[in-house]
Amino acid sequence: MNEDRFLCVAAAGFGLESVVRAELQALGIPGERVEDGRVFFRGSASEIARCNIGLRAADRVLIQLAEFPAVDFDAFYEGVRGIPWRDLLAPSPRVTVDARSVKSRLTAVPSLQSVAKKAIINTLRGGSTGAGPRMEETGPAYDVEIIVRADHASVCLDTTGPGLHKRGYRQETGEAPLRENLAASLVLLSRWEPSRPFADPLCGSGTIPIEAALLAARIAPGLSRAFAAESWPLFPPSTWKQERESARASILRGVQTQMQASDRDAGLVRIAEANARRAGVAEMIRFRAARVEAFTPEGEYGCMVCNPPYGERQGQKHEVEALYRAMGMLYRSIPTWSLFALTAEEQFQKFFGARASRNRKLYNGNIRCWYFQFFGPLPRR
Ligand SMILES: C[S@@+](CC[C@H](N)C(=O)[O-])C[C@H]1O[C@@H](n2cnc3c(N)ncnc32)[C@H](O)[C@@H]1O
Repeated sequence: MNEDRFLCVAAAGFGLESVVRAELQALGIPGERVEDGRVFFRGSASEIARCNIGLRAADRVLIQLAEFPAVDFDAFYEGVRGIPWRDLLAPSPRVTVDARSVKSRLTAVPSLQSVAKKAIINTLRGGSTGAGPRMEETGPAYDVEIIVRADHASVCLDTTGPGLHKRGYRQETGEAPLRENLAASLVLLSRWEPSRPFADPLCGSGTIPIEAALLAARIAPGLSRAFAAESWPLFPPSTWKQERESARASILRGVQTQMQASDRDAGLVRIAEANARRAGVAEMIRFRAARVEAFTPEGEYGCMVCNPPYGERQGQKHEVEALYRAMGMLYRSIPTWSLFALTAEEQFQKFFGARASRNRKLYNGNIRCWYFQFFGPLPRR
């Protein structure tokens, strides 16, 4: 393994790999290959820090340490033991192992986890024999992620810690908030540009408009939070300092936007405003308590990005269908606007009354959803 440039993985939600790859490219890091839920790239410690601070759509950033055939526990143990843990981890590390098995002979996840941990600790204790003194686990924390797929193990170190969606600004939410990185993905997929109006008339705790405003002001989403790898000797503190400074220098101050966010629930609108204040973008968004039926978008050639309720619960179905009809009427009344809606209701288009230009299957947590994209005309340049 080349110690200066690691093979890395930007983990992404299903259907969002291309969004994350484009983001990597924008950060100056070309993606190497894409697999389900993973975009591979080569990166130095600085580039890994840049990804953690700057990626809006990804779930986390990992370093892939090894990949090897693992048809039985002996091969698995030796494969994990062959990784140069002494060079990679700080003294007395606190190691946790999270394993998964997919279509493989080694199916017992607890055994995979305990065998891997034993292999790591033995390597750290005694080099090749593992016979050294007992190791205290008082140092920095390391999460090792192992996936055994089709009898091949891939061993990764998680550099992120709590998922990248945890930006830190959202302290209160409504009933069904979107993860911040999914909200950012919806905005990126809409191809909205800050020169165009933006609206979310079903804003709940404000995640979608807040992510759009962060994008418009070029505020890196991870600027105000900490990451697991910040306590690792592999990442000198200057790495994080420099990447944060460079992210701060890219912020556009006083950016002019025309952004509206509303919800029928006035309490939620207050929560959304407080979240926007914590994110540093409250001045960019006009919040209002209003029903979608009474919503008046301002400006032309705008993008409306929203996440309407799905109505899974008994008794909600009619209400939700009526809401989708109202959204369709609103859309037809603003012919220059584009509208984007994420919903788990497959029949959305039927009630909305129009066919989407595009439709992408995405997951909101474990819920399979469709992102219906109604592209309107683009403004003349
Ligand atoms: C799934 S939630 C949106 C969650 C939001 N994206 C977030 O991250 O917090 C749907 C929102 O639609 C709002 N809503 C439902 N019917 C509405 C209507 N007719 N007009 C305006 N808002 C409505 C609900 O109050 C709820 O906050």
